[in-house]
Amino acid sequence: MKSFTVSDLEHKDVYSLMISLIAPRPIAFVSTVSKSGIDNLAPFSYFNGIGSNPASISFSIATRADGSLKDTAKNLLESRSCVINFVTEDIFKAMKITAKEFEHSIDEFTEAKLTKLPSDLIKSVRVKESIAQFECELIDLVNVSDRLESLIEHSIFGFNTELKPGSGNLAVCKILKVHFDESLLREGTENKIDVKQYKPVARLGAKFYSKVTDSSVFT
Ligand SMILES: Cc1cc2nc3c(=O)[nH]c(=O)nc-3n(C[C@H](O)[C@H](O)[C@H](O)COP(=O)(O)O)c2cc1C
Repeated sequence: MKSFTVSDLEHKDVYSLMISLIAPRPIAFVSTVSKSGIDNLAPFSYFNGIGSNPASISFSIATRADGSLKDTAKNLLESRSCVINFVTEDIFKAMKITAKEFEHSIDEFTEAKLTKLPSDLIKSVRVKESIAQFECELIDLVNVSDRLESLIEHSIFGFNTELKPGSGNLAVCKILKVHFDESLLREGTENKIDVKQYKPVARLGAKFYSKVTDSSVFT
């Protein structure tokens, strides 16, 4: 068995081990809007549900190498809302386009040739081509760093506000509304999903992805 103490490894090698072992990961294709009204899209695979009462999800936005926040995090702080669009093969290529680092002023719907669909309850728009979406409101955005150390060190002098490159900014969001395509509805039910109709794309390590196929589903 190979074993490594994390503090002996370089940050990029820790990242690579984490994304290869925490797999497959669901993908939150997140739409947000800036203060000046520019719509933004980006995928995040450090993503999962938290609880159902209140209905909540989280995804983690890494701090950039220069210590700055990605556009998604900036927009979340400005508008306090986002849409989680779910990813199937139809929008896989478009999703990858939006993972590029575009200027804050660029509308990534235009870049990815995706259509905006207004949300019912929030300002951030949905991706029309996505098979399912959650309209969400931001509950909290937590920088996950050596927080306990900072708390102890800075309990008298105030907190250290510098963000460490690569540190996660965990967006905790409340789900306000769920939308999904009727093709996913399980026959004879009002609001249940037919697991075999939904074929999400998941992220694996390095540049690899996987998807659900008829033969890969079992009990
Ligand atoms: C499938 C996929 C999953 C990703 N997951 C994450 C993630 O969990 N956290 C993160 O910070 N970046 C992740 N990225 C990279 C961001 O999407 C990328 O940095 C993007 O440019 C951020 O855009 P923004 O500045 O518009 O928010 C992922 C990229 C891809 C293609």
